[in-house]
Amino acid sequence: MNCVLITGASSGIGYQLARDYASAGWQVLACGRNAERLAELACHSPLIQPVCFDHDNPQQVHDALTAHPAPQLVILNAGDCHYLDDPGQLSVAALQPMLHANLFGAVTVLHELLPRLERGSRIGWVSSAVTLLPLPRAELYGTAKAAGEYLARTLAITLATYGLSLSLIRPGFVDTPLTRRNDFAMPTLISVSEASRQIRDGLAAGRAVIDFPRRLHWPMRLLSWLPGGLWRRVALRMIQRAPTVAAGK
Ligand SMILES: NC(=O)c1ccc[n+]([C@@H]2O[C@H](COP(=O)([O-])OP(=O)(O)OC[C@H]3O[C@@H](n4cnc5c(N)ncnc54)[C@H](OP(=O)(O)O)[C@@H]3O)[C@@H](O)[C@H]2O)c1
Repeated sequence: MNCVLITGASSGIGYQLARDYASAGWQVLACGRNAERLAELACHSPLIQPVCFDHDNPQQVHDALTAHPAPQLVILNAGDCHYLDDPGQLSVAALQPMLHANLFGAVTVLHELLPRLERGSRIGWVSSAVTLLPLPRAELYGTAKAAGEYLARTLAITLATYGLSLSLIRPGFVDTPLTRRNDFAMPTLISVSEASRQIRDGLAAGRAVIDFPRRLHWPMRLLSWLPGGLWRRVALRMIQRAPTVAAGK
């Protein structure tokens, strides 16, 4: 039986992925910190096994992961997002939690799993469409995701020599507890079911990069081709039209 390990399975995209893979007959190692929520998830299918750890704690990650067989598919999905309301909030202390949530945690999990993965296994690295363009207020989150994306793209080349594949996953806005905190309009917002379908289809097809939804990615990609100064002017207009952001709230 195929086995998938999903981090961040206690909520949002990861939770839906866990349910959908189990429905398709996969054994699911559902990882997260919230034991109660993982136990509730496991009630949906005997194929879902909760694996509780904080990815910031290497010993917890080691103990939890060595207790299970190596999966054929690993989806590094755990993450968090905070926006900068005011440039005065920029500090190492503010950036650190974003790096831990979106980059260091995935590295800790990979450190444990990589030596155990068999040839033919695949890794899905969940980044974000935010890496396509420098977006207002996304200094901390975007930096963490962009750093992770560089690592994932480089790793994809190296891992190929070991018979392992890596897919970079860049969702646009998905309706989850993470985005429900947002105080701005989210164009092309999609459901977790749609996000899960896009991710599962992309991974099954062995795609190197899984970008969705297309109706957000294409305009963003076109905008990313504008000369830097021109995009800066467009972004500035966006901020000026959003009074709560301009007021630094
Ligand atoms: N939603 C979007 O629009 C969107 C767009 C682009 C990219 N993404 C990315 O997609 C991924 C999932 O996002 P989501 O929207 O589904 O968020 P979510 O509902 O807030 O879920 C985040 C998950 O990450 C886990 N997590 C966070 N910190 C952790 C830690 N230190 N140790 C272990 N697990 C930790 C959480 O576990 P606990 O709850 O158990 O702590 C939770 O299961 C993230 O990487 C996010 O950046 C989301």
